Amino acid sequence: MLQIESTQTKAAQVRSLDTTQWALNIDETLVAPHHLPGRSQRPLLVQPAQLKTRAVGTLEGRAGLIHALTHIEANAINLALDMLWRFAGLPADFYRDWWQVAQEEALHFELLHSHLNSLGFAYGDFPAHDGLWDMAERTKGDVLARLALVPRTLEARGLDATPAVRNRLVSVGDRAAANLLDIILRDEIGHVAIGNRWYRYLCAQHELDPVTTYADLAKVYRAPILKGPFNMEARRAAGFTDAELAALNHAQTSRV
Ligand SMILES: [Fe+2]
Repeated sequence: MLQIESTQTKAAQVRSLDTTQWALNIDETLVAPHHLPGRSQRPLLVQPAQLKTRAVGTLEGRAGLIHALTHIEANAINLALDMLWRFAGLPADFYRDWWQVAQEEALHFELLHSHLNSLGFAYGDFPAHDGLWDMAERTKGDVLARLALVPRTLEARGLDATPAVRNRLVSVGDRAAANLLDIILRDEIGHVAIGNRWYRYLCAQHELDPVTTYADLAKVYRAPILKGPFNMEARRAAGFTDAELAALNHAQTSRV
């Protein structure tokens, strides 16, 4: 399996591959090589508490924020590719869906990275944390848990967080970055919808209730309890049901 260290190279290769002629072998089980995914030495990965928050009104603070978003997209490319190769035996559309996600994440990475470059910085210039990939590791043995807790939890959190980040960027005059976040939010609704699509498919196959199964998986895999405010409009557009949205509010209010 090819491991590309540079995220810039990985994004460019994902974007340029034409997969229309690919013959899918959905039952082929692949073995993960060590140190997957390939990634460069930088950014330096640290605990979330060790990350400095800088004022977004300064150039360095704004670049730090754009860097954090760029890092999320770098992880998102790896997450989509991991979904593609790791879990065998699903319908062909599963693999097509995650390939489309990988391509869109690669585009998001490139858009944010070129904006970061325009501020005089590059990917790797700031430290970052590894929360997204950590959950991918924890759920690597269970596709249902992966779908529940990565796209439907951690990536769905991005739907909630994006409007406030966008407003902060507008408030400091970075209209270009705000426009990028509009594109990203639109695409991310689609990615969470794909997570919902396949989560529901697997729940139906195993005759599981999506709401109670989610609560069980969140407990077993120690998923973070999401804090509001929630972007209900985006979450509805991404296919969360009223029962799921009610459970989200309930989990938050029953948290002690
Ligand atoms: Fe993205």
